[in-house]
Amino acid sequence: MTSSTDAAVLAFENGSVAFGRRTVWTDANFSLKAGEFVGVIGPNGTGKTTLLRVLLGQVQLAGGSVRVLGKPPGRGNPAIGYVPQRRSLASDLAVRAYDLVLLGLVGHKWGFGPPSAAERRAVDEALEAVGASDYAEQPVGLLSGGEQQRLLIAQALLTDPKLLLLDEPLASLDIKSQHEIVHLVEDIRRARSMTVMLVAHDLNSMLEMLDGIVFILDGRVIAGSLDEVVRSDVLSQLYDTPVHVHVTEDGHRFVVGA
Ligand SMILES: Nc1ncnc2c1ncn2[C@@H]1O[C@H](COP(=O)(O)OP(=O)(O)OP(=O)(O)O)[C@@H](O)[C@H]1O
Ligand SMILES: [Mg+2]
Repeated sequence: MTSSTDAAVLAFENGSVAFGRRTVWTDANFSLKAGEFVGVIGPNGTGKTTLLRVLLGQVQLAGGSVRVLGKPPGRGNPAIGYVPQRRSLASDLAVRAYDLVLLGLVGHKWGFGPPSAAERRAVDEALEAVGASDYAEQPVGLLSGGEQQRLLIAQALLTDPKLLLLDEPLASLDIKSQHEIVHLVEDIRRARSMTVMLVAHDLNSMLEMLDGIVFILDGRVIAGSLDEVVRSDVLSQLYDTPVHVHVTEDGHRFVVGA
């Protein structure tokens, strides 16, 4: 993470967002370089999802500027993959895993004939990339939370994006599944030289991977290194409750909530 905007995958300058008269956040001044893996943290309602939606061109800045992959954000950019905050997949959802992923590619023409060979290949590759090939024929409603999350990531990978935005992909997953999803994202990031922004509440499962952290405190967007952010004083202030960062002898950090 850097304050220089040269060759940045995305760059904010004095970015701010408001809905009506209500300001959500201000002072977004950061940029990400290609291949960086950045965590976005902060309490509920502080504007994390809004930050991703600005990059997707779904929310306009009230002030300042932002560029994504060399241009202002625009809707439907295939170079950006997006895993939205968990819309829970209904437990009775009968659609096959394969078709759910395919829907990401052909959603606009759903029901209009069979997929092309190229579309089927893209779905097969995406399922393979997230390790979901074995349950491609299963009804989505019968899959575990972790398996369902893999399918949503597969959807986001269909267009071979350069930037992947994940909004709370770890929510409601057990610790093992959280680790698996984080490692999956990390492996894909490396293999495809992608830049990744991942919104999460529990930092522990991803601390080892991150190049930096973006957080929103008192309505201001702040970007920093792990050394700057993953500290007891900073996190306690951010969450407005005692948070302790334990550092082991070999330098690993663990965040412990009060
Ligand atoms: N389209 C909108 N119109 C008006 N207000 C909105 C809109 N989208 C979001 N907000 C408000 O902006 C604030 C930030 O919302 P956002 O969803 O970005 O927060 P968040 O940090 O992602 O929260 P959570 O952790 O609960 O997902 C909230 O107060 C929300 O109600
Ligand atoms: Mg959100």
